[in-house]
Parts: sequence; structure tokens; C-alpha cells
Amino acid sequence: MARRRMHLGFDFSYSHMGGRWRMPGAWPGHTFPDVGMLEEMARIAERGLLDIVFSGDGTGVPDTWRGSRDAAVEWGMNWPRQDLTPYAVAMARVTRHVGFGLTFSSSFMHPYYTARLMNSLDHITGGRIAMNLVASTRRSDFANFGFDGLMDHGDRYDRMEEFTDVCRLLWDSVAPDAMLWDRETGRVGDPAKLRDVRHEGRFFKVSGPLNTPPSPQGRPVLIQAGGSPRGIRASAYVADVVFGGDMALPLQVKQRAALDEALRALGRDPEEVGILWQTPIVVAETEREALARRELLLTSIPPEAVGAYLSYNSGYDFSTLPERFTLRELHAEIVAGQASPMGFLHELMATLGPGAELTRAEFLEHGLREATAYDRTLAGSPAQLADRLEEMFEATGSRGGFMLGHTVSMPPDLIGIADHLVPELQRRGRFRTEYRYRTLKENLLES
Ligand SMILES: Cc1cc2nc3c(=O)[nH]c(=O)nc-3n(C[C@H](O)[C@H](O)[C@H](O)COP(=O)(O)O)c2cc1C
Repeated sequence: MARRRMHLGFDFSYSHMGGRWRMPGAWPGHTFPDVGMLEEMARIAERGLLDIVFSGDGTGVPDTWRGSRDAAVEWGMNWPRQDLTPYAVAMARVTRHVGFGLTFSSSFMHPYYTARLMNSLDHITGGRIAMNLVASTRRSDFANFGFDGLMDHGDRYDRMEEFTDVCRLLWDSVAPDAMLWDRETGRVGDPAKLRDVRHEGRFFKVSGPLNTPPSPQGRPVLIQAGGSPRGIRASAYVADVVFGGDMALPLQVKQRAALDEALRALGRDPEEVGILWQTPIVVAETEREALARRELLLTSIPPEAVGAYLSYNSGYDFSTLPERFTLRELHAEIVAGQASPMGFLHELMATLGPGAELTRAEFLEHGLREATAYDRTLAGSPAQLADRLEEMFEATGSRGGFMLGHTVSMPPDLIGIADHLVPELQRRGRFRTEYRYRTLKENLLES
């Protein structure tokens, strides 16, 4: 039997943040958000035949640490961020095959606006657009859209599913053969090919139809990343392809099984829904060189920046930590404050034990490894990395592939992926040797 091929994306969300922007070789001559750097990135990704370049998003400035945004701004932690929609257009104009994934929050956006925007992007890119839907988990993001706090977790996902229903109805509201553009008769469109949406739900009321010509993909590719049981159910409902977190392999295997169950419950075939696992990666000619590059991550940001990052992600201000504390005490305090004890604290408790006593400085040292993804960064030669990716791919059902990213510096690390890792995977029959199809959907969802 032929070996199943992987799909590869590149997540550039963090390449200008967390001190990566000044690592050796990083973007000479460019400062974010210079469009030239993103165009160059897209060209390199296409040279490597990657499926997609992708960015996550957040719409607020982190301000949990010390109750202030100063550290986030000073050290570039989850700041600055840009609406990347126009940048996808620019990248599409200098490439022909690679796809583009943009992130939108179903908690703030309106489905009519978003469905219409995606239609235009699908036209401009020639059918190469994907929408990543997030529910948003950060207070400072909600605060810019009229909310005093987070929307309830269950409501966020109910809204995401309804949002998706409305978008799908809108994309389907104009048939693929609705346009006539008949110069002889003067008829532009066939009225019989449009249908109302008439959606009236808990969150949205939309009459439809969409007032746009049908786009190459019809519906863009939908991506979703949910971690909780409710989030995974939403993945099964929403996603053509799931974005999975960079957890330890046994946890990824568990998420794959949970997703399969959720897909079956909805009558979907789990074989057809891949997961792209988020994978921080450093490729070099030799293992030694790769490990040396990975060490640079530990010099990239000061403790203040680590505090800003951790506090933003958990919703708990770690600047208020006492000089010494146990992990159990910290966990209890975070939960009591309605913040979320993120995976990092759980992992720390699993490794050191809940009774472990830490000083504030020690906690931030562990936090540095978290904020830079140091421990989770795969570093090695192309052959070593291909071995590891094959192992992960097979253990998680050989469907989907990897969203590589969180590199040390761009573009050198993307060049390593395109010019060294990809050829190694191709030699093993694990990656395409040409783009076979015109649209992202066809290329990315091919099994
Ligand atoms: C790989 C990955 C990427 C994510 N990217 C974003 C993002 O760009 N913006 C965002 O607001 N949330 C992002 N999230 C958060 C998820 O949307 C989701 O809220 C989180 O995984 C928690 O899952 P839960 O809501 O099911 O508990 C990401 C999550 C994962 C695993």
C-alpha cells in the first residue's frame, strides 16, 4: 500500500514576536508589517510545495501582567498584530498554488460580513483561502467588542456553530452557475439560482442571499482548534481540517480519538478529517547546529516579557505571586479567580508534583521555556525531523499533517523547511512532489 502523505502548513503568527524578530538572520531589511516580508515568505513556502501559510489572531493588547500593557508593548508579546486580510491578497499576487489561512473570531464577527469577505478573498486568491474560526479566550480581545468579560465557554461554541451554519447557508445561497454575463441578451445573473437564507437563530438573524458571485471554492476551507470536550465537538461540526495543539504525543493520540468519536456522532467519516498539529521546529544540516539554534530561544526575552505572555494566556496576573509558593496553592488561586490554569501549569504539576515549592524567579524560568516553546521545539537534521514527524503522523492516524512554525528566525528556518526537510519527506514518499490541483481545498484535503 502507498504510504500516506502528510500535509504541511507554516504558521507565521509568532515570527515577529517574542524576540524572534531580532534573532540572527531574521528579516534583514524588513520590519513587521512590511508586506515585502510576507510576500517573500509566501514565495519560499510555495517553493517547498507547502499547503498553506497561516496566521492566528488576537484583537486586544495583553494587559494582565501588573494590570498594564507596558511589558507586552515594550517586549512585543502578542503585540503588535495586524489584520492580515490585505496581506493575504498581496501574498496571493506573487504565488499561484500555496493557500492562505486567516483567523476570525465567531464571538465578535458577524457571519454575513465574514462570509462575504471570504468570498472576495476566494476570488482574489483563485480558490486558495481558508478561514480559521476561534471562539477567543482573552478578556482584552472581548473588551474591544463591547464585552465586560468573557462570554460563557458553552455559549462561545454555540455561537461558533450557528455562525458556521449561517456562513454555509450564505455561501450556498448563490449557485455555482448563477452568473450569465451574456453580452448578447444583457442578462447578468439567473434569478432562479439564488435562494434566501432566512436564518433566525439564538445569535444571528440573516435573510440572505449573499450578494456576490460564486467563488472558486464555493465555501472556503474551514479550520478550527478546540481543546476541551465542547471545543472538540465544535471542531467536528465546523472543520474541514483541525488545528491541533503541540502537546505531548499521548495527548495528541487522545485528542485524535476524541475527535473521531465526535465526527462519528455527527455522521462524518473520521478518515476525511485530518489534524494539522502545531509543531515548533528548527531544521539545520546537523543536529548540533539545530540544537545550538534552539538554545537562542532562551536568550530571546526578559522575565517581564515572560510574565506578560503567561498572564495574558491564563487571565491571571503572575506579578502578584509571593516570593515562594507551591504549585497546588497557585492552581487553587487561579481557579478561584475564574482564570484558566493553562496547560503549562498542569504540565509543571505533572512534572514537578503539585506540592513542589518554587520561587517567583524559578517559576518565570520555567515560563521562559513555555513562552518560547523551547521544550516543544523539534530541533534536528532533516532526517531526524522526518523520523519524528513520521512517528507522530502514524501515531495520530496518518491523517492531516503538521502546522510547522514558532521557528527561531525567519526566513532562515522556513528556508530549512522548504529546501531540506521537504526533500527528505519527498524521498520517503511522504510529501507531494508537485501541486496537483488548483484550489487549496483540493490540495489540502487530498488523502
Ligand atoms: C494550535 C492552536 C492555535 C490557536 N490559535 C488561536 C488564535 O490564533 N487565536 C485565538 O483567539 N485562539 C487560538 N487558539 C485557542 C482555541 O481557539 C481554543 O480556544 C483553545 O484551544 C481552548 O480550547 P477550548 O476553548 O475548547 O477550551 C488556538 C488553539 C490551538 C490549540
